[in-house]
Amino acid sequence: RTARFTLDPAFTVGEVNPRLFGSFVEHLGRCVYTGIFEPGHPAADDDGIRTDVLDLVRELGVTAIRYPGGNFVSGYKWEDSVGPVEDRPRRLDLAWRTTESNRFGLSEYIAFLKKVGPQAEPMMAVNLGTRGVAEALELQEYANHPSGTALSDLRAEHGDKDPFGIRLWCLGNEMDGPWQTGHKTAEEYGRLAAETARAMRQIDPDLELVACGSSGQSMETFAAWEATVLQETYDLVDHISLHAYYEPHDGDVDSFLASAVDMESFIENVVATCDHVGARLKSKKKINLSFDEWNVWYMAKTQAEVSALDWPEAPRLLEDNYSVTDAVVFGSLLIALLRHADRVTVACLAQLVNVIAPIMTEPGGPAWRQTTFFPFAQASKYGRGEVLDVRVDSPTYETKKYGEADLLHATAVRAEDGSVTVFAVNRSRTESLPLDVALSGLDLSEVVEHSALADADPDARNTLAEPERVVPHAVDGTALSDGRLTAALEPLSWNVIRLR
Ligand code: AHR
Repeated sequence: RTARFTLDPAFTVGEVNPRLFGSFVEHLGRCVYTGIFEPGHPAADDDGIRTDVLDLVRELGVTAIRYPGGNFVSGYKWEDSVGPVEDRPRRLDLAWRTTESNRFGLSEYIAFLKKVGPQAEPMMAVNLGTRGVAEALELQEYANHPSGTALSDLRAEHGDKDPFGIRLWCLGNEMDGPWQTGHKTAEEYGRLAAETARAMRQIDPDLELVACGSSGQSMETFAAWEATVLQETYDLVDHISLHAYYEPHDGDVDSFLASAVDMESFIENVVATCDHVGARLKSKKKINLSFDEWNVWYMAKTQAEVSALDWPEAPRLLEDNYSVTDAVVFGSLLIALLRHADRVTVACLAQLVNVIAPIMTEPGGPAWRQTTFFPFAQASKYGRGEVLDVRVDSPTYETKKYGEADLLHATAVRAEDGSVTVFAVNRSRTESLPLDVALSGLDLSEVVEHSALADADPDARNTLAEPERVVPHAVDGTALSDGRLTAALEPLSWNVIRLR
C-alpha cells in the first residue's frame, strides 16, 4: 500500500527556530578532552582546538551548544574553570567518577563557539545541585557584566575584556533524577529555580531561562513535576526542558524504530501541562519547550562502565557506535522535533563529539562522521523555514511498545524562497514504501534531489578503520508532475527530498 499526504502552505505548524539544531558539550568522557580540545594534536590550533573537529562541527550545522553539563553541572564550580590554566584545581567529578583537570573552561568554551562561527550560540547551565542563587549570580556577573565590578574585572584580567553575552541559561540539570547530585523534590526545585530566575533577571531582565522538566516521560514524577515547577516559575522562565534517549530493549527493533511515537507524545503531554498551568494562572504567556537532550543511547551498558571507574581523566565513556538502524531512528526523532516546531524552540542533540555523538575522534588521529551525522546535517541545512502540517495516511505495522505504528514518519519544511524539503523515514525493515504526495497551492516543478541513508546491512557503521562505510546516496525515479510527488522509500531508510 502507498503512503500519502498533502502539502499545502495554508496549513502550517510554525516557523523553525534555528535553535532546534542545537547540540551539547559536557565535561564527560572524551567530549571535551581529545574531542574538541587536544593540544599537541597535529590539527590543533594555538588554543588546542582541533580544527578537523571544528570543520565537522560547522558541516553538521549546530547552533546553540549547551555547556558544561549534564550531570556534571550539578557539582560544577565555575570559578575552577577560569583564570591561568596552571592555577586551576583538579576536582573529583561525582557524576562520572572521573577527575576534572579544568584545562578547558568557560573562556575556552566561548572561544570555541566563536571559532565554530556566528551560528553558534552559548547555552550555559548553572549548578542548582550543590549550589544556589549566589553562585549563579556570580557566574552571570563574571560572564556578562561589562566591567567595573569585582567579577567582571576579574574576567578582563583573565584576558576576556568583552563580556560573553550569554542569553540562554539552564536552571540546573535533571533535578528530578535521583542520580543527580543535589537531587530535589519538585517543590524544592521549583522554589530554588524561581528564586534563581528572579535574581538573575534583576541583573538582566532579557535573559532566556530554561527550567528543568523531567528526565524522561517514564519518570514516576512526570507531569506532576512540570506542573509544580511551573506553578512556581511560570512568569520567570521561558522554557521547560525535556530529555529523552532511545535504545532497543530485548532486541525489539520494531518498537525501537517507532521511538518517535514516544517522543511526540512526550512533547504533546508537556505542552498540555504547560498550558494547563498557564490556564490555572490565567496567563496569556506560553512556555516553550527546550528538548535539550535527545538521542539514541545504549544506556544499559553505561552504569557498569561508570561504576568500574577509579577517577581517571577523560576516559572512553558512552562511545556508542551508531548503525544505519540507529540513524533511521535518529532521523525520525528529528522529524518529531520539526513536527512540533511551534512549541519546541530549542533542542540539543546530546552530545557533540565522542560521547553518544555524531562526530568521533581518535587521540592523535583522525575525526570522522557517524551514521547519525548525516540526518542532522541535512535537517539543519534544509529544515529552515516554515514547517507544513503533514498528516500521513500510511500503512502500519505492529509494535510491542506502541501498538500499531505508521510505517511512514514525515514532515516538510518550506524555505523563504518557496522551495520545500520533505524529510521521511520508512520504518519497514523489509519493504520499500511507495510515497504519493499531493502538492496544493505550492509553486513547485522540479525534484532537486532525493537523498537516502539506507544499506543492505542495517547494522553497517562508520568506524576508525572504515570511516566512510555509510554515507547518503542519491535515489533515482523520484518524480514531480501534475501536482504530485511520487517516490519509493527504501526499506529502513532516512530520506531527504528537495523540491523547487
Ligand atoms: O548526556 C548524558 C547524560 O544524560 C547527561 O549528563 C544527563 O543530563 C543525562 O542523564
